[in-house]
Amino acid sequence: MVDTQEKEMIFEPILEDGVFRFDCLSDDRNAAFPSLSFTNTKLRDTPILIHKVPSYIPTFQSLLGQQIVKLELPVGTSFYGTGEVSGQLERTGKRVFTWNTDAFGYGPETTSLYQSHPWVLAVLPNGEALGVLADTTRLCEIDLRTESRIQFTASASFPVITFGPFPSPTDVLISLSHAIGTVFMPPKWSLGYHQCRYSYMSDKRVREIATTFREKGIPCDVIWMDIDYMDGFRCFTFDKERFSDPKSLVKDLHHNGFKAIWMLDPGIKHEEGFFVYESGSKNNVWIQKADGTPFVGDVWPGPCVFPDFTQSKVRSWWANLVKDFISNGVDGIWNDMNEPAVFKVVSKTMPENNIHKGDEELGGCQSHSHYHNVYGLLMARSTFEGMKLADKNKRPFVLTRAGFISSQRYAATWTGDNLSTWEHLHMSISMVLQLGLSGQPVSGPDIGGFSGNATPKLFGRWMGLGAMFPFCRGHADADSLDHEPWSFGEECEEVCRLALKRRYRLILHIYTLFYMAHTRGTPVATPAFFADSKDNSLRTLESCFLLGPVLVSASTLQDQGSDRQLLLPKGIWLSFDFDDLHPDLPSLYLRGGSIIPLGPPIQHIGESNPSDDLTLLIALDENGRAEGSLFEDDGDGYGFTEGQYLLTHYIAELQSSVVTVRISKTEGLWKRPDRRLHVQLLIGEGAMLDTWGIDGELLQIVMPSEFEITKLTNTSKENRRTRLESVMPIPEMDVASGQKGTVSKIPVELKSGDWSLKVIPWFGGRIVSMAHLPSG
Ligand code: NOJ
Repeated sequence: MVDTQEKEMIFEPILEDGVFRFDCLSDDRNAAFPSLSFTNTKLRDTPILIHKVPSYIPTFQSLLGQQIVKLELPVGTSFYGTGEVSGQLERTGKRVFTWNTDAFGYGPETTSLYQSHPWVLAVLPNGEALGVLADTTRLCEIDLRTESRIQFTASASFPVITFGPFPSPTDVLISLSHAIGTVFMPPKWSLGYHQCRYSYMSDKRVREIATTFREKGIPCDVIWMDIDYMDGFRCFTFDKERFSDPKSLVKDLHHNGFKAIWMLDPGIKHEEGFFVYESGSKNNVWIQKADGTPFVGDVWPGPCVFPDFTQSKVRSWWANLVKDFISNGVDGIWNDMNEPAVFKVVSKTMPENNIHKGDEELGGCQSHSHYHNVYGLLMARSTFEGMKLADKNKRPFVLTRAGFISSQRYAATWTGDNLSTWEHLHMSISMVLQLGLSGQPVSGPDIGGFSGNATPKLFGRWMGLGAMFPFCRGHADADSLDHEPWSFGEECEEVCRLALKRRYRLILHIYTLFYMAHTRGTPVATPAFFADSKDNSLRTLESCFLLGPVLVSASTLQDQGSDRQLLLPKGIWLSFDFDDLHPDLPSLYLRGGSIIPLGPPIQHIGESNPSDDLTLLIALDENGRAEGSLFEDDGDGYGFTEGQYLLTHYIAELQSSVVTVRISKTEGLWKRPDRRLHVQLLIGEGAMLDTWGIDGELLQIVMPSEFEITKLTNTSKENRRTRLESVMPIPEMDVASGQKGTVSKIPVELKSGDWSLKVIPWFGGRIVSMAHLPSG
């Protein structure tokens, strides 16, 4: 292409009504590489018979081998998506470069993180939404610096796909999922709390951590083994002394209700005699330099070679290694450093002219610059396939650091090496939401922050918030102080306990959201504006988000708790809690018109039983109605794809002062368990009316008089105020000084709200004296 003029792109309808593919010219259509984002490239390449024209047509320009695509949208359009990005939620004014990067300690202005999603979700002024995908694996600039204009620049030729405008942003995400697939169905245990550290240095320490969770009654499902479990950072090995018997370690963990997740990096130690290196060399699996010899780059073990996951023979070689590895008692796998990260080089990755001998259907033999952004995706895919090979009746759980749009089919993700700062706490919300708006619903930050040392207050706040994210894992860097829930003193420990108990009470709801996400492509965590995409004032809200109909409102400000006044979307939003109100925990609201299922406060998923008491939390809408669903199955395996599940739709209706709660519809072959049903009807200010019955039978609650309701809500308001005043806020203190592990025993005086506290940092954060300050 030599044309520098701006022209309209040509289009054809693809996939389904409302989706269009755009190319510069027909030659470019034919020259486009296969899609690595679509589940099936044919869906992208085959037009469908629909006689419609797109509402918005991009223009293109060709310049020095680059294709520049612009799409002008109405003034007042708000931008989201662009994948894993830091900084503000609403993206106008921002620019991103899709180039998977080991971005340790990134900040709000960093323009390339670990994953690539050349995708923008545009919310139009009228509340409708449009999704735009630049379907290229190559480095792509997403420029949103001009108001209401999307501009993509990448090397030619790549197609652009638009989804919509559809009536709501959720409709766009559902349509996107028809192209890129939905999220893998997570095993239920993976929705519990995960405890990680770089690294738990021995099986003894892992056992200690697990036991402490149970002793302290802090819910947890998973313990993670970071790279130090390996023998000299050699993947697929175990340190002979510190992790001498992984099988019995995992057996003990299982016995105690924990799962074990172990790390596998792509960098394989370049060492004669090391069985993975030998077998890989024999099978010719390594990425090559331009001269055809294996590329060697430094990572943790020193010089490493890297499997070329673009080849199916390599993916199955890796998958078989994974399969054998699983037999050591591995419940999940953590793929780290797979941008791929390479040490001691300015680019932080391998040379762009390295060679991948990719499968024809992925794009054939290409340089690394072509496949760089999909390396993590293909590694995660191969790891996922290996886990399935090991046991086809178990759902794989893979966590990947690097990814590409569509990697949600194989793996969860986290937001990489963040910092223990308030700014990162704040950014973690937008990052999780943004990934969700880019097709990846399972994500979360390192709770507490990876690098640096959290303070008790920061840690407690982060746990409160993190407990509401789709993926919930605490982690800390090698030279950070301990970041377990009990590492910051009693007040913080109690907040962590409350936070995680909440998560486990909500797990039935979260699991149901994931079932919907997996089967229908609906999002799990969304920004508040999803409640009303027409309301402009919601579009930049960054401290709250929705988990379906539950609004989670957190404070990310050090000196302000979540008990402040906040802007709620229009309509009915009824606050609720679990008798756990605390200024350092987020406030929770249920949208009028909704019912969510709640379970008992278990310590780990394995403790739950279908016959446990079921609670339905209900908020009626202005017409006195509410509805909601509960999905139940084995929590693992694929029986649910053959009907082995129960999906119940509940409905509540108010008629002549009586609220009737009943089942409106069920799906699946499972018989309803015999269990008690507890109905809690929210009436405002945290007050509720409740009744007990049998699940499956009709339940009724007689509404009291208006006068009674006002009395109940006023009392509840007063009780909540007293509780908030009486609970011990987590003290803030600066612990960043001092070397790792040093413990200052000198009491520090702190002011927290109306309290003056004397605290010994790191002596369990113990408060040695406290006094109430005179008001004013
Ligand atoms: C980098 C990862 O981002 C971090 O989470 C991990 O702890 C270290 N690698 C060590 O494996």
